[in-house]
Order: sequence, then structure tokens, then C-alpha cells
Amino acid sequence: MVESCYIHIPFCSHICSYCDFSKMYYHENWCKRYLIALEKEIDLYYQGEELSTIYIGGGTPSSLSLSELEQLFLILRKLKRKKDCEFTIECNVENITKEKLEFFLKEGVNRISIGVQSSHTKILKYLERPYTKEEIISVISLVKQVGFSNINVDLMYAIPIEREEDLEEDIIFFLNLDVPHISTYSLMIEDHTKLKNQNVKPISEETDFRMYHTIHQRLTSYGYKHYEISNFAKEGYASRHNLTYWRNQEYYGFGLGASGFVRNVRYENTKSFQEYERETYRKEEDTLSRQLDMENEIMLGLRTIEGISKEKFLKKYGCDLKGKYQIQDLLEKGYLKETNSSYYIPFSYWYLSNEIMLRFIGE
Ligand SMILES: C[S@@+](CC[C@H](N)C(=O)[O-])C[C@H]1O[C@@H](n2cnc3c(N)ncnc32)[C@H](O)[C@@H]1O
Ligand code: SF4
Repeated sequence: MVESCYIHIPFCSHICSYCDFSKMYYHENWCKRYLIALEKEIDLYYQGEELSTIYIGGGTPSSLSLSELEQLFLILRKLKRKKDCEFTIECNVENITKEKLEFFLKEGVNRISIGVQSSHTKILKYLERPYTKEEIISVISLVKQVGFSNINVDLMYAIPIEREEDLEEDIIFFLNLDVPHISTYSLMIEDHTKLKNQNVKPISEETDFRMYHTIHQRLTSYGYKHYEISNFAKEGYASRHNLTYWRNQEYYGFGLGASGFVRNVRYENTKSFQEYERETYRKEEDTLSRQLDMENEIMLGLRTIEGISKEKFLKKYGCDLKGKYQIQDLLEKGYLKETNSSYYIPFSYWYLSNEIMLRFIGE
């Protein structure tokens, strides 16, 4: 049963030096055409389920004008929402306004996610993010003043020009923003980005690991729970939408380059605007074998501190994890922990999680 939905808005008012997401410069005419195509895609695939979570991401949803946002939300009214639906929208510091925030609140949005990344002028410049530390502070206070309390901020680290002291200062800055959720991202130098074209090299694995550790230590000592490899939340504020992904539950993905998991099919939409407008939405569709679905359940579950639920696994696949996979060695070495109800990777080994997951499924 599908209970979640991701909607991708691919427009941005500027392009960052590191980003390889599905995005393009905002253009009024393209936006108009995009919203028409998006509505057609939703009409084609959405089957009327009541949704527990909706997430509008990007790109930069807040780069749309107020009247375009009104059009977008008119389309999204077609999606039935449960009473307590978690409804998130991503906003960027440079184009969020009081009017847009008030409109989101009126439309039932109850969670705001802001890509802050850093407070340092030199780093923001390097990442090509067009705002200042002062603007970040005033935007967060505006979001709170309008009435949102469920707020996430993104923090980026492992940036080649960043010193470990810069990260320490950023962490204090982020803590002072006093929001209940922080997502952290270690910078990846992706193909087809400005940084890659400039031949920038990533920082060493040792520094990356030390930075990851520093973030964990500081945020957990301030009451944030490190509930997933890259995510921290105060009690009761874990992202319900993202938990859908990690619990291997189904979700719609609508929009350019969006991915989804519906009725046992994992799919990825085209990143070509022309194809999308021609209503050729899906680029890849894979019907999952039971084996692959089981492996996804394990790999996704092991990203979180709640781990893989033994009972859920048995109910879903009719087999016991310990009987099916050779995990005794991982348990004996302490890479994997077992409780009465679950298996999980303890925090101290999260930096090895990819290797542990592969050993778990026998690869
Ligand atoms: C694609 S962005 C969309 C949100 C919004 N447009 C923004 O710029 O904050 C979502 C998050 O992905 C992260 N991200 C994007 N590209 C990345 C990269 N190459 N390495 C690490 N994190 C990245 C950023 O932290 C960003 O906040
Ligand atoms: S990081 Fe965000 S704002 Fe920057 S180009 Fe990517 S989607 Fe757009």
C-alpha cells in the first residue's frame, strides 16, 4: 500500500558548483509547461490512496513565484492526505519569503527543510550559494515566526577548502539555529559538476571520518538522536517521509528525475524535459524479485539505528534472517548487534556500513 509521495520541482534560481541533481535554471515559461506535465503524470499514476507523508523537493521549490506555487498546490489537492500527514517542502534561503511561508502553512505544510550547508562566506562562495550568515539567521527566525516548528536544516562538510575548525564553528552555528532536525552531507565530487570539471579532489577518508565523528559527538551531546547514518533529530522529530524509504515501504515519485517504488516496481523518471512533456515519464522500471526486495529491506534498514525488524521480516518474507543469511561472524565481531526484536549496526561501525551490508547479504 503506497502511503508516501515525493514531488520533484527541478527549477533553481542559481546552480551550485557541486550539484548533479535533476535541476535547471528557473524560467517562467518552462515552469508553466512543467506544472501542466506534472499534473498529467499524477493523473496517470495516482490511484487515490490516502497519504501519510508528502515531500516536495528539488531543485528549489521556493524558486517558484507565489502564483506558480498556488497552481502547484491546486494540483496537489488531488492527493488525499491522512489527518496527520507529514507535509514537507524544501526551501532555499535566497528565495523564501513571508508570503510563501504563510501560503504553505495555510495549505497544510507542516515541515520546512532548508539547505543551509554552511555559515562561512568562503565556503558558501566555493559552493556558489548566494546568501550570507545573517540571511540564514533571519530566514530561520521568519520560518519560526510564521508558525513552523518542525524544521530541518542541511549541513554540508568534507569540502576541500574547509578546515576542521570551520566545521566546529558551523556546528555551533547550526546548534544556535535551534531546529529539531539536522541532515548532514559529506560533499561528493560528482560528474558533470563545476567542481569535477575543475578537477577538484575529495578530502582524505581519514579527515572525512574525523569530521563525521565530530558531528556525531557534538550533536548527540546537545540532545539530537543520530537515528540514521546522515540524520539527527530531537525526540519526536525524525523525518517520517525518509523513514518510509529506510523501512523499504512504497512511495510515489512524481516529476523530472524523481524515483518511486509502487506495487513492487522501483522506477526512475526521465531527466529530459522534452521526454517528460511528451508524457514518456518512466526511464527505468524494475519489478523486484523477492530476493532483491529482501536485500533492499536489509540494506535500507541497516542505515538506521532501529535496524531491521525481525518480526516484520518474518511476516513479509516468511523466513528468519539468521536462517537465511550467514551473519554469525558479523555478530561475533560486533559489527552487527542483535536485540529481541531487531538487528542493527552500532554507531561505532556506521562508517563501515557499506561493507557490513554487503557481507550481510553475502556479497
Ligand atoms: C539537491 S539539494 C535540494 C535542496 C535545495 N535545492 C538546496 O540546495 O538546499 C538536497 C541536498 O542534497 C545535498 N547535496 C546535493 N549535492 C550534493 C553532493 N554533490 N554532495 C553531497 N551532498 C549533496 C545538499 O546538502 C542539499 O541540501
Ligand atoms: S544544490 Fe539545490 S540550489 Fe543548488 S543547484 Fe542543486 S538543487 Fe539547485
